[in-house]
Amino acid sequence: MTQKDFLPKQYADLPTEGKITWKAPSNIALVKYWGKKENQIPANPSISFTLDACATTTTVTFTKKADKTGFSFDLLLDGEPKEDFKPKIQTFFERVHDFLPFLKSYHFKIETSNTFPHSSGIASSASGMAALSLCLMDIEKQLDSSLNQQFFNKKASFLARLGSGSACRSIEGDLIQWGMHTGTAKSSDLFGIQYPYEVNEVFKNYHDTILLVHKGEKQVSSTVGHNLMHDHPFAQNRFKQAHGNLDKLKSIFSEGDLEKFIEIVESEALTLHAMMMTSMPYFILMKPDTMEIINKIWSFRKETKVPICFTLDAGANVHVLYPEAVKEKAIQFIQNELVAHCENGHYICDRIGNGARKLN
Ligand code: DP6
Repeated sequence: MTQKDFLPKQYADLPTEGKITWKAPSNIALVKYWGKKENQIPANPSISFTLDACATTTTVTFTKKADKTGFSFDLLLDGEPKEDFKPKIQTFFERVHDFLPFLKSYHFKIETSNTFPHSSGIASSASGMAALSLCLMDIEKQLDSSLNQQFFNKKASFLARLGSGSACRSIEGDLIQWGMHTGTAKSSDLFGIQYPYEVNEVFKNYHDTILLVHKGEKQVSSTVGHNLMHDHPFAQNRFKQAHGNLDKLKSIFSEGDLEKFIEIVESEALTLHAMMMTSMPYFILMKPDTMEIINKIWSFRKETKVPICFTLDAGANVHVLYPEAVKEKAIQFIQNELVAHCENGHYICDRIGNGARKLN
């Protein structure tokens, strides 16, 4: 598929008003997206578990307006106007306008809320852009009833990507790949796809306990971090490595080889942060407690052979991943040893999920 396939047909009559609500989850990457080309095209393919508990609910109320000269919207977070989110939505509308030409015909009231606190250090851009894209797709569906479910999800993912890259992996569950990879049939740089190969039962109910190590604002945004991969001395090898890791994951997923799974997931997390540390300018997002947690996970795994591992996103928080079968042992360990390293003892118990859903 190409971009052109997402350009809509001529619409029938536009409805005068309407209201739609979608809830979209966050996701956690196993192979990381870090580095992009123009138009939100990833420099390498990535794969993620769709989450369940960490999610954004967005209601879009739309009313037809007389002039079609520009975009018109209000943005509310937890019922309060949120001016500083508006530039990101404005950019998003500009990027997707060709694919959703009705955008200039309406005034939109976008009401959004997250299940996780805004200041938790958990990025809301993936779940937020996914929820908003689904609401907009829903409007398009009202204008063109011939859209089928498969295309609906694909285009929602395509639009979400233009808002925030990782958001394209937050439409469906439970294992989503985004980015061209020769080893994965139908993979695309334009949208995420459900992982098309066999996945062992052991990965079905995977858990992700998110340890909130540092809740403040990040020093460096993901967007800036991605840009620093241009002219990065290790970029080309890193991109190659991501392709290689996806190749390796194929048999790991089908065989349920947790040892090798852990090796790749932890290496990916540390490589992501190694890229940050070797950018120019360089930066470090991990905190001392991030390191303490990693070391404790390594010791615990060595002593007990319980297959629990970590991954990191672009921040100090640690995602602790483990299969359903060791849930009790893992939670006990987390509570006894790791929670002490969380800011105010805060953590979130999440697990792999089935993707976004409509609420009204
Ligand atoms: C480290 O999707 O937040 O979480 O496309 O600029 O919005 P933009 O970036 P974003 O980057 C996410 C980076 C990551 C890894 C990942 O989720 O794959």
